[in-house]
Amino acid sequence: MGNENSSANKKIIVKVPGTSANCGCGFDCIGLAATIYNEFEFNFLAEKSLNISATGEGADTIPNDEKNIVWQSARLVFDRAGANDIQGAEIRMINRVPMSRGLGSSAAAIVAGLIGANAAVENHFSRNEILKFATEIEGHPDNVAPAIFGGFTVSVVDKNAVQTFSFVPKIKLKLVVAVPDFPLPTKIARQVLPKTVPLKDAIFNISRASMLVAALIEGKEKFLSFAFEDALHQPYRTKLVPGMKEVFTAAKNAGALGVALSGAGPCLIAFSSASKKIENHIAAEMVQTFKNFDVQANALILDLDTRGAIVEIKD
Ligand code: HSE
Repeated sequence: MGNENSSANKKIIVKVPGTSANCGCGFDCIGLAATIYNEFEFNFLAEKSLNISATGEGADTIPNDEKNIVWQSARLVFDRAGANDIQGAEIRMINRVPMSRGLGSSAAAIVAGLIGANAAVENHFSRNEILKFATEIEGHPDNVAPAIFGGFTVSVVDKNAVQTFSFVPKIKLKLVVAVPDFPLPTKIARQVLPKTVPLKDAIFNISRASMLVAALIEGKEKFLSFAFEDALHQPYRTKLVPGMKEVFTAAKNAGALGVALSGAGPCLIAFSSASKKIENHIAAEMVQTFKNFDVQANALILDLDTRGAIVEIKD
């Protein structure tokens, strides 16, 4: 690809939602996008120079050199598109998604880099190809898919492709998220998982994941009380999040339709379709119950994002 097609020196702005993967039963395949956003401004350069800066969540911990995941993701697009005329970048980030908490901060960074770079090469790749690249980098599609497409997403990884079905449920759900004050790297949360699971646990999850998607699409709220349950990962991860079971119980007692570990944790997410008053009550109960276990947490009450990543180009 030559200079005429790629766009060094255009300002590209990408806004990517935070995400919650798994939704309980949908381990590594179901996810949702939430109305909390990281913003990225790119100015891609012909010269080999990197100027990366961040403000907001985790700003001090973000590498500002070749190791930066946003830049690495952008680089992957340029390499695969053959855009050798882009060698550097100025990247500014405003981070609102808490880092290493199970709300998709790394997925947001990967998706931003890929989509920003793709815009610079005149959308050389389709969104499905971007999804494939994002899944390669992240290792599983359940955060990157909703970050790209918005809504709830169900993803299937096939040999050569990733297929994602994105939908907006008939039930208007509020997402009440308790955010503990400690990080939990996904790598550690995956190390506690078994290599094999009993058939009955597989059946437990298949039945609930199918029920969850059907109930959301048809708007059958009464099925949600058990549809978020999980036997494949949450039971093993309970020990990593003090008070997890009790926070789940408190949220349900306060009126939540269902509860789940958000991604690999440590955030816990409760789903509600009730009222602002009840959602505030759920949030307060979750925070207080965490406190009983010496975990400081704050609560976010979010909506479902239905658009996914958006990109704007300024000449
Ligand atoms: N599905 C992944 C997990 C999400 O639970 O490990 C974390 O990014």
